[in-house]
Amino acid sequence: MTKRIVAIEPTHSTPALLNTLLNQRLSEAVDLQMMLKQAHWNVKGSNFICLHQLFDSIYNSVVASVDQIAERIVQTGGIAEGTVRASAARSRLADYPLTLSEGPAHLEAVAKALTTFRHEVRNTVDEADEMGDAETADLFLGISRSLDKWVWFVEAHGHVPT
Ligand SMILES: [Fe+2]
Repeated sequence: MTKRIVAIEPTHSTPALLNTLLNQRLSEAVDLQMMLKQAHWNVKGSNFICLHQLFDSIYNSVVASVDQIAERIVQTGGIAEGTVRASAARSRLADYPLTLSEGPAHLEAVAKALTTFRHEVRNTVDEADEMGDAETADLFLGISRSLDKWVWFVEAHGHVPT
């Protein structure tokens, strides 16, 4: 009986590049999650309870994405560099203004952060596809879909300039 050796297809062709790309997205997701808490804690005004709860719902969704991205990094042979300090140094999101109080200002700032992150996430879908990593592309497609929903929720309040 002859032994047949079957080569295992790598899930992606450039793990180091993938690792760098995923850690870049992880840093922004970690950054974004605390922006949502900043909004949740500080928002004031007539829509307080609605916005306070909305920002926490988005926070919980982003936390789930952080976990998925970090675990994908480790599954593909990398190290998830997800500390607050590493994330702050690397994130491409604009600083969240620390002086905001009114609902419309927080809605505008949250919309800006969500749409910037969504843009980066969509690029990551294409980049992962180009690397032949369909699973990572699929993960980011799911995150992009979830961001679409939250951008809709935030913009539907009518306070975000388009
Ligand atoms: Fe809370």
